[in-house]
Amino acid sequence: MERVTPALACPVCTAGLTLGAGTLRCSGGHAFDVARQGYASLQRGGAPAVTGDTAAMVAARDAFLGRGHYAPLARALRDAVAGVTDDGLCVDLAGGTGYYLRAVLEDRPGLLGLDLDLSKPALRRAARAHERLAAAAADVWQPLPVRTGAAAVVLSVFGPRNGPEIRRVLTPGVGRLLLVAPTPAHLGELVGPLGLLAVDPRKAERLDARLKGLEQVTETAVTYRASMGHADVAELALMGPSAHHVAADELRARAAALPDRVHVTVSVTLSSFAAA
Ligand SMILES: C[S@@+](CC[C@H](N)C(=O)[O-])C[C@H]1O[C@@H](n2cnc3c(N)ncnc32)[C@H](O)[C@@H]1O
Ligand SMILES: [Zn+2]
Repeated sequence: MERVTPALACPVCTAGLTLGAGTLRCSGGHAFDVARQGYASLQRGGAPAVTGDTAAMVAARDAFLGRGHYAPLARALRDAVAGVTDDGLCVDLAGGTGYYLRAVLEDRPGLLGLDLDLSKPALRRAARAHERLAAAAADVWQPLPVRTGAAAVVLSVFGPRNGPEIRRVLTPGVGRLLLVAPTPAHLGELVGPLGLLAVDPRKAERLDARLKGLEQVTETAVTYRASMGHADVAELALMGPSAHHVAADELRARAAALPDRVHVTVSVTLSSFAAA
């Protein structure tokens, strides 16, 4: 937390923050706790309109990612960040458990990571994920608790994103947003049998609309097949939005009805954007 503090901004008044005795403070008198588990609470006052992933979803995500099914994606992100910078701050928006950010930080001593998410169970894991990774509770739809121009890289992997704020925090000229989004083929083999929510083919259009002020520089397809067993498939369903619509036991039963191994298509685009 100490190392990223100079890049943080008060979520109420945007002033810089200083860290002392487990509290982040701005010059305007606003104070924000750093939890015993290591993550800061950088939310504005009042009840948040949205909450992050539940403990059960986060446990499923952690187990699933831990088996390496998305490791090729983590490597692609790591290479993409290496093409942008060797040092500075990498902010992961809705970064969850810190899985991708940790991969990006490994063996790159000049790089610092900041994982912003709303889910406390995810933040607890993220805070332990890497020594150069700081985690903070923040709503990515609100002004980000990051100083203007302080981010060399912003990551957005399967999460909500806020174009104007990404643009504000990126370092002018050189800063890049690296965005991972599913294509309609993503997890296609599981959509029917598990009743997963299919990727909306018009999502790309909506995405562009939200990223106004950012200009696409590159787009790479990352496509491969992952061999998954019943536990993997069940976790995949339980970690995503389907967990809100279908009971956990029902999702596990649907996974158990599949063949022992299923070859599942992983199909995403990895795009980089510059502030326009
Ligand atoms: C599909 S998960 C992706 C997590 C991570 N990027 C990954 O791929 O492992 C979406 C994440 O967004 C978080 N989230 C949802 N709404 C949010 C918001 N408004 N602000 C911050 N995080 C949010 C959830 O808690 C969850 O961790
Ligand atoms: Zn303040």
